[in-house]
Amino acid sequence: MNLTLKIWRQASSSAPGGIHTYQLGGVSEDMSFLEMLDLLNEELVTKGEEPVAFDSDCREGICGMCSLMINGQAHGPEVTTTCQLHMRSFKDGDTITIEPWRASTFPVIKDLIVDRSAFDRIIQSGGYISANTGSAPEANSVPAPRDKAMHAFNAATCIGCGACVAACPNGSASLFMGAKITHLGDLPQGQPERYSRVVGMVAQHDHEGFGGCTNIGECTAACPKGIPLDVISQLNKDLRTAMVHGF
Ligand code: SF4
Ligand code: FES
Repeated sequence: MNLTLKIWRQASSSAPGGIHTYQLGGVSEDMSFLEMLDLLNEELVTKGEEPVAFDSDCREGICGMCSLMINGQAHGPEVTTTCQLHMRSFKDGDTITIEPWRASTFPVIKDLIVDRSAFDRIIQSGGYISANTGSAPEANSVPAPRDKAMHAFNAATCIGCGACVAACPNGSASLFMGAKITHLGDLPQGQPERYSRVVGMVAQHDHEGFGGCTNIGECTAACPKGIPLDVISQLNKDLRTAMVHGF
């Protein structure tokens, strides 16, 4: 395939950025999107030009590092992570626009890399989980109903990629936060700090400048892990309970 790539280039967080256009040939439909960018970077380096900076780590859809707006869609045209998107989703002659996540809470560090440490601070604000010291307890000594366990497990598949924020017109991190609140709050082990956790995380979310949820649903449509909107209901329910009981 021959492609025209329009890529956001920005030397640093304080430098002005802009779209640069590159022609790239020899792209196989079996390549992943990141392998296609690797190919572009090899060409740029060979020509003595600065390669395009982008985030990746596992390249298996589990770490949440890859984070690109592709033709205006978070992670591109398929419901998956950028690293699991394959070039067979595009065709010869296509023009592909590649930008970093667009959210003021995720400032650009360089080119396509953004700073998502606001997510770390939200998790940190949730505090610790109480756990007794000593050897791990026998699993069946803390019974968890199967439906709760499955709900918690599904919520725990959130990889913290930030696509929900990038897709949301309000720049809200409610889906991410709801996933964290749900996977801890559904299980018996998460109960001791359940309500102080939600108060701490929501306060940090608002302090960071993420917007509020207005039930638009773009977040869940863009989420590569299919986190459902009902985690936001659980977040709001726990927050209301916490407020009523003065946490
Ligand atoms: S909720 Fe989905 S889109 Fe948001 S950070 Fe988690 S995995 Fe990514
Ligand atoms: S590089 Fe790890 S999820 Fe994409």
